[in-house]
Amino acid sequence: MASPCGFQVTGTVPTGLERCAAEECSEILGRSVTAQRGSITCTLESAEELAKFDQLRSVDNYRAVVGSLSNFCKGESTVLERLKTLPFDGLLDWTAALSLWQFHRDNLDHVDTSGCRSDQAGVNGSKELSGDKDESTSNGAGSDRQREIAPSHNQAVEGVEDTVERAASAGQGKRLYSSLLQNEGITFRVTCTRGGRKHGFSSPEAARSFGAGLADFFDWKVQLKNPDIEVLLAISGDEAKVGVALNRESKFKRNIAHFGPTTLRATIGYGMLRCAEIQPGDVVLDPLCGGGSISIEGSLAWPETHHIAGDIHHLAVQRAAANIESLLQEMNHGKEINHVKVDVCQWDVCQLPLRTSTVDVVVTDLPFGKKSGSRLANWSLYPKALGELARVCRPQTGRAVLLTHDNKAFSRALQRNGFWKRVKTLWLNVGGLQTALYILNRSSMLFH
Ligand SMILES: C[S@@+](CC[C@H](N)C(=O)[O-])C[C@H]1O[C@@H](n2cnc3c(N)ncnc32)[C@H](O)[C@@H]1O
Repeated sequence: MASPCGFQVTGTVPTGLERCAAEECSEILGRSVTAQRGSITCTLESAEELAKFDQLRSVDNYRAVVGSLSNFCKGESTVLERLKTLPFDGLLDWTAALSLWQFHRDNLDHVDTSGCRSDQAGVNGSKELSGDKDESTSNGAGSDRQREIAPSHNQAVEGVEDTVERAASAGQGKRLYSSLLQNEGITFRVTCTRGGRKHGFSSPEAARSFGAGLADFFDWKVQLKNPDIEVLLAISGDEAKVGVALNRESKFKRNIAHFGPTTLRATIGYGMLRCAEIQPGDVVLDPLCGGGSISIEGSLAWPETHHIAGDIHHLAVQRAAANIESLLQEMNHGKEINHVKVDVCQWDVCQLPLRTSTVDVVVTDLPFGKKSGSRLANWSLYPKALGELARVCRPQTGRAVLLTHDNKAFSRALQRNGFWKRVKTLWLNVGGLQTALYILNRSSMLFH
């Protein structure tokens, strides 16, 4: 059962890689996709098609869209009250979102049972909602509702009327959507994010008000940890968007069991590899691999390629090897094909033990000079690394996709190196830092 607008799904994606994610989505789903800052949205033909959306490698988290209210936060002083009554106002159609939620729960929710989604866990990546300043999960009902019947007489009367009216329609949502919500005793929580401008209310307050309304409307019970349904309220400027979270575990954490201080999100690694236009048979190099996130993602997403990863630090090399081992064990356990074609070595990027002109593509995440290395060291590391990468990369057809926050040192190094031609620079948000993704082509000049 779909609402008139179809089954709309929004996926949050790394900021700066939206076009790349939209391309992947239209390749897999074969239909048009819109990209906004930090997300992509598309309309599915049926709830079953969610299984295809679930395969997308560029999406961090995804949600079913319930509705979008463009001027909801105008008239700031009444926003909290209106959030309480919003579920009863007929402005939100939950049909498609709850169908998607049901389908996801019955067919795709096998990954994680630990409950709350969390985006921290030492993974370097953009904040989930671009520009979000404030995020809060609320228990919705409870104490706030007690305070509704207010101090002045008039307010007290209004409060009583409101309570009576609500009691009459309490559980209305449960009745309306009974065919979609077969099980009794559904638990939920509301998570609110805000951005765009300052608001006269906090995210916990907004989540609590909306949660109180939902608890009445659906007759759902609040449960902060591991609820059945997580309702998302995203406020941006005057706009309020409501959605239902689908995946529980953020998808950018895939592949990695052993996190390091600068572990890159798998979704960012995927976007970088896509920008390199990987071809079957390519030899792909990550010479500063840390825990191996880029090479592992590359090997899984492009199984007909071979990956070589290395790092100067023995602990990073051990971590990369351990990540590959864990993945192989996990795959064997699930009886999946156990191919992770990644070789891991310890080396210095300035002196690689590789033959000249043997690598097709270099995809790497350089030390930003913050958590890894130093800005001072980058002035000498970047030019040497670019020179050595030019040596091992094939002239004319070789490509490099390099990520750094230290644009000054990188631009200078690039200017002085005649072997690389800059094709494009994308600007990414990585762990809250503005970083440049340089897409380079190897010139035809031979290396002597
Ligand atoms: C930004 S981190 C890479 C993180 C990696 N993408 C991940 O997901 O774990 C940069 C890495 O470069 C390594 N590194 C620094 N200088 C190096 C050098 N001269 N040769 C090789 N690796 C080096 C550091 O040890 C660090 O692991």
